[in-house]
Amino acid sequence: MKIGTPLSTSATRVMLLGCGELGKEVIIAFQRLGVEVIGVDRYADAPGMQVAHRSHVVTMTDGAALRAVIELEKPHFVVPEIEAIATATLLEIEREGVAVVIPTARAAQLTMNREGIRRLAAETLSLPTSPYAFADSLVELQAAIDGGIGYPCVVKPVMSSSGKGQSLIGMGLRKRADGVGAGRIIVEGFIDFEYEITLLTVRAVGADGNTETHFCEPIGHVQINGDYVESWQPMKMSAMALAKSRQIAQAVTGNLGGRGIFGVELFVRGDEVWFSEVSPRPHDTGLVTLATQRLSEFELHARAILGLPVDTSLRRTGASAVIYGGLEATGIAFDGVEKALQVPESDLRLFGKPESFLKRRMGVAVANADTTAEARTRAKLAASLVSPCIA
Ligand SMILES: Nc1ncnc2c1ncn2[C@@H]1O[C@H](COP(=O)(O)OP(=O)(O)OP(=O)(O)O)[C@@H](O)[C@H]1O
Ligand SMILES: [Mg+2]
Repeated sequence: MKIGTPLSTSATRVMLLGCGELGKEVIIAFQRLGVEVIGVDRYADAPGMQVAHRSHVVTMTDGAALRAVIELEKPHFVVPEIEAIATATLLEIEREGVAVVIPTARAAQLTMNREGIRRLAAETLSLPTSPYAFADSLVELQAAIDGGIGYPCVVKPVMSSSGKGQSLIGMGLRKRADGVGAGRIIVEGFIDFEYEITLLTVRAVGADGNTETHFCEPIGHVQINGDYVESWQPMKMSAMALAKSRQIAQAVTGNLGGRGIFGVELFVRGDEVWFSEVSPRPHDTGLVTLATQRLSEFELHARAILGLPVDTSLRRTGASAVIYGGLEATGIAFDGVEKALQVPESDLRLFGKPESFLKRRMGVAVANADTTAEARTRAKLAASLVSPCIA
């Protein structure tokens, strides 16, 4: 294993497909290791592009365009940061040996569609999940609910993320009909969980040259409308629930294969654990690891990709809280940063997104403390002191 010199013929080149806030941190981790990084996203000046060696604006769902940029840049590693990518092209790239796709092209393909990953987890691996069915019309949806899924249930487009188009039916909550009738959906029985976690799981090369599985401490989080608003680490859980969570994560990441970090999303009640979904890449709730771990999830990803050793140990208890745009404008400013950073053991990431939306994640506050409760209070306070405003 050798790492070359960036911008020279010996360079080790990595291409990030997606340059959001998670990709930006992955790129910074690669930069620190002297790797040449090429950022790709669908819009100019995306966060990761601002820290990459160079970048390209490409519609990544367009297979021909994706292949063209990979053939132009000849990266050694192609690292998807988002789901909406022409995964058929990634399969070709991998098969032809053009580049190594992280963790594997099959993992990217299976996880971009809820049907692929759910059938793998429940039907192939026999992991516990919510009851589920797929439907292509309202008639089929109703039949699936009546035929056993029951109420309450959650309806999601098979191709979506960040809670987009999700509806909770039968809980008296606001119904968002935009997911129903617009293409294939999954309907899931509602799991009345006590809490949910992300179990960051790393597949990396060990000292003996074999791929090993490492687990980070579990991350607890709160989701509102399918979007994460705060997370903390470690999440206290029973020894049995933790053991089951690791077994599930080991099974699903082992099947997806390759190297890199995975965010395994699990629902927990007492000693009972259900698999929800998995990201074959860093997870947004894992932003907390910027404050809590010796190596953040981004550094772990970079190391694992390069075939380097990893260390998933926790350094100090901590939490993260999201900073939303709160307004719709380009070139916004952030007021109160100096007040936020007066919160003990706090830190901030401002992502540098060119355009702000009401509910767009523009930054995150992280904080450490002796307890998760105190860390959450600190992170939320720091986040609340940052005010996005018109410049
Ligand atoms: N079957 C279910 N029972 C109970 N809660 C659920 C269920 N499915 C989803 N949720 C809730 O909705 C959240 C988002 O669901 P899910 O992770 O499937 O969607 P997503 O769009 O991929 O979200 P993200 O991209 O943020 O992970 C979950 O974290 C959980 O809080
Ligand atoms: Mg999710």
